[in-house]
Amino acid sequence: MILNDPLAGQLKLLGDVTRLRILALCERAELSVGELSRALDMSQSRVSNHLRVLRDSGLLEERHVGTSTFLQLSTAVAVNGSERGSLAFELWRTVRGELAQLPEHSADLVRLERVLAERDQSQRAFFERVAGEWDKLAPEFATGQARQRAIASLLPPSLVFADLGCGTGYMAQGLLGLCARVICVDRSERMLGRARERTGIAGRGTEVEFRHGELDQLPLANAEVDGIVCGMVLHHLPALERPLQEMRRVLKPGGTAVVLDLAPHREAWLHDTLGHRHLGLSPVDVAAAFQRAGFSTVEIEPVDDRYQPRRSDSADETPPQLSLFLVRARTGRP
Ligand SMILES: C[S@@+](CC[C@H](N)C(=O)[O-])C[C@H]1O[C@@H](n2cnc3c(N)ncnc32)[C@H](O)[C@@H]1O
Repeated sequence: MILNDPLAGQLKLLGDVTRLRILALCERAELSVGELSRALDMSQSRVSNHLRVLRDSGLLEERHVGTSTFLQLSTAVAVNGSERGSLAFELWRTVRGELAQLPEHSADLVRLERVLAERDQSQRAFFERVAGEWDKLAPEFATGQARQRAIASLLPPSLVFADLGCGTGYMAQGLLGLCARVICVDRSERMLGRARERTGIAGRGTEVEFRHGELDQLPLANAEVDGIVCGMVLHHLPALERPLQEMRRVLKPGGTAVVLDLAPHREAWLHDTLGHRHLGLSPVDVAAAFQRAGFSTVEIEPVDDRYQPRRSDSADETPPQLSLFLVRARTGRP
């Protein structure tokens, strides 16, 4: 029982070896009651009485999670020393340097290390155990935007991108939430209309603009954009020179253009049914064209995916698996 007289009460509070041992442990780590009991090598019932007294004094703080209670030295003591000005805080500050003199202290620290290692081990074991099932166990996000937002926040928020030959807006859709503005360009008004429908549903903080125009003469100002994507368009073009020069013109210094396209293939029917002017393109030729257009860094990257066009006249036929490639080209900085 703590005495009513404040001075005697505070002295008695810290005049108990078990309470000093508890404070020493709770200063090192936030511990559950069970962990604390194991580190002290005492029953939980013996420890609990002391915990109540220490919590009432303000030296210990409790945190409740589900059915567990966690304890740690009050942050006011840990961070600000005697900020609260209470005698108990001052007394603890004085005696804590002398704890090594307690015969039980070093054994407590050894047991504490073991308890913390076991906790770490059981947490690891938990995730090891559930890893295979995690995607089924983990709660779903309502819209799925949260993770993309977190990833997007790695990028500068002011970026402006262009989706050239945007078609129905697949690429632009992938850019939503990643930048301030996407400018969709296409020569087909109807394609632009479809892209507007696709991207208009959820802009995710990205403004989307639609401009009717040709890749040979882009409806974009000099140095208007930070990046360009041009997906599955080059194989429709009669020549690459002019469109790539235009890409360079509209990119800011240090900007990047990425084209995704088909590697050479033999599916001649794509000419008639999907309007392909070339049966794929050589990545090396595309990279060389970027270099001729004045881009300073040009890289070819393989794509771990396949294009699977379906013939409308033979729906049952297994579609061909056409190889894809990326070329990434950067403009020099001044
Ligand atoms: C196969 S779609 C690709 C659409 C989209 N980029 C994608 O990845 O799904 C090709 C688009 O390029 C557009 N296009 C073709 N030649 C063009 C040109 N010279 N200037 C502007 N757009 C062009 C077409 O109108 C069409 O919408």
